[in-house]
Formats: sequence, C-alpha cells, structure tokens
Amino acid sequence: MSDEPFSTSVVSRIRSFDGETPLQVLARQGDIPRTDMTSLERFPYYTAFPFAWYVVCFSDELAAGEVRPVRLLARDLVLWRGHDGEAHVMDAYCPHLGANLAIGGRVEGNDLVCPYHWWRWNGDGANTHIPYSDRTNGRARVHAYPVIERNGFVLFWYHPDPRVEPLWDIPQLDAYFTDDWTEFKPADWTVRCPWQELAENAPDYIHLRTVHGAATVPEVEDLGFDRYTSRLRARVDFSTPRGPTTGRIDTDGYGPGFGIARFSGIIDTIFFAATTPIDWEHTWSLKAYKVHKLGSDEESLARTHRVGEALICDLRKQMAEDNVIFDNKIHVPSPALADADGPILRFRRWASQFYAPGDPHAAGRLSAMNPPAEPQEQR
Ligand code: FES
Ligand SMILES: [Fe+2]
Repeated sequence: MSDEPFSTSVVSRIRSFDGETPLQVLARQGDIPRTDMTSLERFPYYTAFPFAWYVVCFSDELAAGEVRPVRLLARDLVLWRGHDGEAHVMDAYCPHLGANLAIGGRVEGNDLVCPYHWWRWNGDGANTHIPYSDRTNGRARVHAYPVIERNGFVLFWYHPDPRVEPLWDIPQLDAYFTDDWTEFKPADWTVRCPWQELAENAPDYIHLRTVHGAATVPEVEDLGFDRYTSRLRARVDFSTPRGPTTGRIDTDGYGPGFGIARFSGIIDTIFFAATTPIDWEHTWSLKAYKVHKLGSDEESLARTHRVGEALICDLRKQMAEDNVIFDNKIHVPSPALADADGPILRFRRWASQFYAPGDPHAAGRLSAMNPPAEPQEQR
C-alpha cells in the first residue's frame, strides 16, 4: 500500500454516473435509514475524546453577562462571559450541592453566581463569595477549561488530564476581518459519527467523485502532518460557464477541532471548519465562509452575496451526501486499500496521538471494550 497522493489519471478512469446516484437521491430526500448498532460497536477506538481546541460558539453569540448551558464532550458545560469581556467554559455542576450553574445562574461583575445558594465562582473556577458565610471555601473548585477567541470563534481546550495545558495555539488571521471580506456565512450539522470519521473524509480524495460527483479532484502538491497540525496544498480545476479555471485549495488543520481552508482561483474565499464532539457518536460540525468582496458598489456586493450563497448551498448538498455514509458507517481498523486511495493510514497514524486515556466519562466504554478473552478456535 502506498502512502503517496494518488495519481489523477487513475481517478479520471472512474466512469461518471449518469444522473443522480442512489446516494444522492437519499441525500436529497433526507430520510436516511440508520443503523441500530451501538456507538461502541461502530467506533471501538473511541476511548477518550481527542484532546484539542474545540469551538463552542461564535464570539458574537455570547454577550457580556450572558450564561448558556452547553452539552458537548458527553458532559454538561456552562458557557458565560464576564463583564470584563472574558469568555469562560466550565463544568456545569456546582461543587456545593450540585446545581447546574447554567440553568438559572447569573453573572455578577466577573463572577458566575450559582442559582441555588448564590455561591460565586470566578473564571478560574475558584469560590470568591458565600453570601451567608464570612469565609470562602478554598478547596472547592469548578473545572474551568482554558478559553481563547480566534477568528470570531470561542474555543476551549479539552484534555482528559486537566493538568495538561494547551499544547498548541490557533493563529488569528486579521487580514480576513477587514471590510474587503464578507461577514461569516455559517452552516452547521449534527453528524452521527466521531470526529475521526469526518476527518478521514478529507484525505479520501476518491469520494469527491464517487459521492459528490466532482468532475476533477485536487492535485496534491504537498500533504503534511506535523506534530499537531496538518497541511494540504493542492491545485484544483473549477468548472465555470467560461470553461475550466485552475485554482488552489490550501488548508491548515490545528488539531482535531479546527481547520482553515483558503480557496483561490475564481473568487477568493476563506473557510473555517470546526468539529466538536457532542457525545461518543455525534459530532457538531460548524462551517463558515468569508468571501472576498468583488467590489464595493451595489452590483459587486450583490454578486459577492450570490457567490457566498452558492458556496453554502453546495456545502449543504455535500454534507447531506456525506451524511448518508456517516450515519451508517463503521470504523474498519485494517482497511482494504487500493494504491490510488488517499493517504488514509498516514492520517490515522497522525490522528492516533490525540487519544489520551484518562477521561472519567469514558470509563464505561473502556470496561465494555475489554471483555474476558475468548479462546480462538483453530480451523
Ligand atoms: S449548589 Fe451551588 S451554591 Fe449551593
Ligand atoms: Fe465529503
């Protein structure tokens, strides 16, 4: 098996399907049958959520003083912003007597006040005030996740070992947040499989033709997996009414939770992709485009808007098509591969580093995965 990027000549030998494929019909109709297998049967490798920066919301969705309940990583979280503008993500349950801080809690100054007995917690999760006591409880602690805001997203750092500080950063790309670029054009989905299965779809170039009906697939110039980041540099032919145009797709992944792709050629766009686990078999996929404005006059802005809408429309179609596969696929630990398949195994070797054991929420999965060994019968 070769790890090298496939040759386009092999791909171009795949015959085009005449009209919609049965998968595309299912995707359009939207009523996809779903497997009854459990998530443990489908994705047994998932013994902890991968450590990563995960998006929890857009920055402008969380005002100062706002408190919101969030369910991600199979746990209840509280998302809030102090009046100093700092965003916080913490475990939702109050160490005093277990109230959910996100349901009825309120922000006072830069503290979160529990709805039950009004204990106050700062952004580090330390107790700062007990209204009926002269002293605070110095031992009590709400787990606070490190939070950053980059490129209009609020992200929190998850590692099963809470002592592990963030291992990488995500760059802030100010150049795309000027008047020359549109606001975000967002779309999101709940996908019924873990991050890894979605991510494997990216080095699986063949599916662009077989699932999405692309006329051509990217010609890979460089594909790299560095310590915690991944990189793809590729040329791609876009079909336009005036014939094919050569453009580029350049993507950078920052761990399992966040990636940035730049498309150039016809029109410059930047695309942010966030994948955050909801539980052991569901992933929240949030995507947002920004389009380089074609001009500042009304006609150019209207054209830019139409391009952005077309991109989102195409993205929705592709996600619906992928979901027919995602909703029902299993993980094949030793896949049967062809020479021209994309670098799936190289991707898997890189991905495996993000599963660090130790998440108490995974205990049930781990014990279920280690049943007593059964004798292997000889044949
Ligand atoms: S449960 Fe939170 S203050 Fe009592
Ligand atoms: Fe896809």
